[in-house]
Amino acid sequence: MRKKIVAGNWKMNMLKDEAKKLFSEILSMSMESSDHKITVVFPPSIYLADFVRQNNGKVMLGAQNFHFSNKGAYTGELSAGQIKSIGCDFVLVGHSERRTLFMEDDQVLLLKIKSALESDLQVIYCCGESLEEREQGIYINKIRNQISLLKTFSTEEMMAISIAYEPIWAIGTGKTASPQQAAEMHDLIRAEVSVLFGAETSENTSILYGGSCSPTNAHELFKCNNIDGGLIGGASLEANSFHAIISACQ
Ligand code: PGA
Repeated sequence: MRKKIVAGNWKMNMLKDEAKKLFSEILSMSMESSDHKITVVFPPSIYLADFVRQNNGKVMLGAQNFHFSNKGAYTGELSAGQIKSIGCDFVLVGHSERRTLFMEDDQVLLLKIKSALESDLQVIYCCGESLEEREQGIYINKIRNQISLLKTFSTEEMMAISIAYEPIWAIGTGKTASPQQAAEMHDLIRAEVSVLFGAETSENTSILYGGSCSPTNAHELFKCNNIDGGLIGGASLEANSFHAIISACQ
């Protein structure tokens, strides 16, 4: 059975004391992660080691970014192995901010997923179309292409990969996809995963929605059949709203 996942992507927010306070609040409010439902926090990586120590097992921790090489002369970078070695379990790959602001192309994303899997990390692979692509009616193909990047992986490797559908026009804009718009894309993604890996793998793949998900809209979104949780930006920076979204995911 596929897992429900609610993940908070803090991006480059929170100074040390605020970060510590928010993480403590999240820990005190969260339920124990189970086989069926997990909470993941992606803070700025500089806080990960402290959070791993502070964690009481209620959440899992992940890194927003890393380099695809194992080690070497890459000043300023972190490897997947290093992230795993301090006790993290997840990484994000393919977030639209990484694709557009940091020019990460398919080749880089593939190498990053490979490297994460080799280090035994779970991957949340993000996809999503721009407003322009939606308006031009090419958004279906855009998402198909982004999902087809996964075809080089085996069905076994797919067990460690979840997908987040994040329409770029909804990220940080307060403009959420309607449940109908989100459901159309989540159905499409599940169908694509089924074509690539078969029905069983597809049924077991968690597909999260991201893009201005909030306590107000989470419930309606999470009611859709193929929406298995959320990747939450802004609303994960406040413990009560993050907790309300976690509670909406049943
Ligand atoms: P948002 O960000 O919830 O602030 O729109 C989502 C994301 O970028 O993952």
